[in-house]
This record gives sequence, C-alpha cells and structure tokens, in this order.
Amino acid sequence: MIDIKGITKSFGSLQVLKGIDLHIGKGEVVSIVGPSGAGKTTLLQIIGTLDKPDSGQIIIDGTDVSRLNRKKLSEFRNQRIGFVFQFHQLLPEFTALENIMIPALIGGKSRSEAKKKAEALLDFMGLADRAKHKPNELSGGEKQRVAVARALVNDPAVILADEPSGSLDSKNKEELHQLFFSLRDKLGQTFVIVTHDENLAKITDRTIAMRDGMLETDVNAAADAATAASSSTATTDNDTDGADRADENADGKAE
Ligand SMILES: Nc1ncnc2c1ncn2[C@@H]1O[C@H](COP(=O)(O)OP(=O)(O)OP(=O)(O)O)[C@@H](O)[C@H]1O
Ligand SMILES: [Mg+2]
Repeated sequence: MIDIKGITKSFGSLQVLKGIDLHIGKGEVVSIVGPSGAGKTTLLQIIGTLDKPDSGQIIIDGTDVSRLNRKKLSEFRNQRIGFVFQFHQLLPEFTALENIMIPALIGGKSRSEAKKKAEALLDFMGLADRAKHKPNELSGGEKQRVAVARALVNDPAVILADEPSGSLDSKNKEELHQLFFSLRDKLGQTFVIVTHDENLAKITDRTIAMRDGMLETDVNAAADAATAASSSTATTDNDTDGADRADENADGKAE
C-alpha cells in the first residue's frame, strides 16, 4: 500500500529526516510517536505529498508520487489521500454536509453523487441530524467526525492524521479512536496517525517511534515480545480483530 524508501529532508542546515524506510500494508492502523521536533509532522506531510523530500522514494497504491507533475499530484492527493488535522479545519461558512462534499466536487463528482456519498458518511458517523449545522454549531467531537468523513469522501488509499484527537476531551477522544478501527474493520481503511496519546498508540496495530529524524523500534512488537518472553500463558498475536484488541488494551491498562 505505502512504500517509503530512504527519505531525507532538511530545512536549511537542519536535517529533519535522516533516511526513513517504512512499509505500511492495506488496512493497517499505524501510529507514529516521538518527542516534539522528532520530524513526525514533516514525515506525514511528505507521505501526504504536501511537501517534497530531498531524496528517497514514496510509492502509494502503486504510484511513485515523485513522478507526478503538479497537476497530477494535486489530483492524486484529492483522490487517494485523506487528511485529518488536530484542529478540524472545516470551512466555517459551509454546513457539515457541504464540508464533506467539497473534496468530491473538486474531484469531479456531480453534486447529487457527492451529496449522496456525504449523507451516507454522516449517517455512518451518527451525525445524520447534524447535516445542516455549520462548524460553530457542532461540538469538538462532532467537528472531528465531520473532518474524518470529509477525509473519506473520495475513498482514499490512506488517511493521514496529525494528532487528530489532540484537541478533544477523553470521551470524544475514545469515540474518535474507536471510529478509526470501525472504519478499518468495515472498509479496510488504512491509517497513519501521528499521536501523543499513549492509549491510542497502544491499540494501533503498529507503533513507530521517531527520534531525531530516524525511526526507532516497532514499540508494540517489542512490548509483545517482552510479554511473550516473560509470561508462560499464551498471549495474543498481532491479530487485528476487536476482541484481541480489547484484550491487549485491558492488558495494557492492567500493567
Ligand atoms: N518549514 C520549516 N522550516 C524550517 N524548519 C522546520 C519547518 N518545519 C519543521 N521544521 C523543524 O523541523 C523539526 C521537525 O518538525 P516537525 O514539525 O516534523 O516535528 P514533530 O515531530 O511533528 O513535533 P511535534 O510533536 O511538536 O508536532 C523541528 O525542529 C522544526 O522546527
Ligand atoms: Mg507535529
């Protein structure tokens, strides 16, 4: 699904990414964690084709994005990549429904097609009765769910989220995180999520730790290996169904 090889990036004399290699499979929910300034947002922006690396290659869904010209790249971004940011970034003068429709309209869908898709997504989010609300008439959690629906409207290959629950209280946080997993389970949606939230990092399929522009270990895999080594009872493998996730989560909280 996503293949990243040898990505480097500098801003002036500051090298922010020092050779990143990463493969993300379809339907994987991957979290990226690490201290402030580690380069997480820079990496996400480069994966999302919003910024260009100095060297290296990014292949998304079979397309080498460095080979696309400006116009093709913005089409590709519109069609294949969904973004969710810390602050919803909905357009204030449009309703929830219209905000979700916009990327579909930009992508060339008819108004009725875009509306139908946006309505289905609002329904999935449990927000059908908020369709005509403008962003300032929605709660923080509702705004983020609308932002997720907007990211999904063109059936992207991947959703890239930068601290998506960073501005939410714990209940809305939890709901948003569950939404990611139900989208993965129902639609096979792939997610790459930059987060400072340990609870989210714990339940993702894979946690990638970044430090000083490099990837560290696969934190969950290391933790699983440690658990397996120190425990005589069988532990779950890296299976991704809900029951296993709930177990892992319960384990994590009990520790
Ligand atoms: N456009 C830019 N020009 C110059 N320096 C930049 C630019 N964007 C980021 N940086 C620098 O690159 C480094 C990595 O920034 P980045 O935003 O990727 O960090 P981060 O891991 O997302 O941090 P945080 O957790 O605080 O969001 C920082 O030192 C930052 O100051
Ligand atoms: Mg950041």
